Amino acid sequence: MTSRLLDQVLIAADEALRTLAGVAVAARPTPGKGGSDPSADSERRNSAGLMRVNHAGEVCAQALYSGQALVARDPRIRDALQAAGAEERDHLAWCRERLDELDARPSLFTPLWYAGSFTLGVASGLAGDRWSLGFLAETEAQVEKHLDGHLERIAPDDQRSRAILTQMRDDENRHGETGRSLGAEELPQPVKRAMRAFSKVMTRTAYWV
Ligand SMILES: [Fe+2]
Ligand SMILES: [Fe+2]
Repeated sequence: MTSRLLDQVLIAADEALRTLAGVAVAARPTPGKGGSDPSADSERRNSAGLMRVNHAGEVCAQALYSGQALVARDPRIRDALQAAGAEERDHLAWCRERLDELDARPSLFTPLWYAGSFTLGVASGLAGDRWSLGFLAETEAQVEKHLDGHLERIAPDDQRSRAILTQMRDDENRHGETGRSLGAEELPQPVKRAMRAFSKVMTRTAYWV
């Protein structure tokens, strides 16, 4: 194994452990501090379910970017993946903090979401940098749409969660643009459909457990 590859493997292992141990630290302050919390119990439970889904999504993002960066060929692309991955780490830490505030736990299947997404990241990376970027751009587009849906479903008085989701959506939009500017390939429709199916399983499960 070359020393560069060994370095990348160690980075990937470190990222996995940090994500799974729940010790990710955000570089940016959490959005929405000082905003209101949902008043009704049912709204609070709904916020907890939605934030558990978003936390699971950010676990997937960590795994995906980590797997893609591991096998990226072009160093420019690897750097972009690692830079976006750092922003995703903020998202992960914000969602985790918000779950704690709502007295809720992350999904029990977190290691499974990580393993599945890491595998997808490596697979899309091995298909070549342009396909890997295409996969990234499509993921970000789907996540952005999903976050818009959550912003409609979350109680208006849960300003704290809303501020986090809004900032995440803006970041995801930028990640997608970065992917396209680096030469992302448009994915075939069946792949897009398979991605939507995977995220549906994840989001429906993580809302409850
Ligand atoms: Fe994210
Ligand atoms: Fe993103």
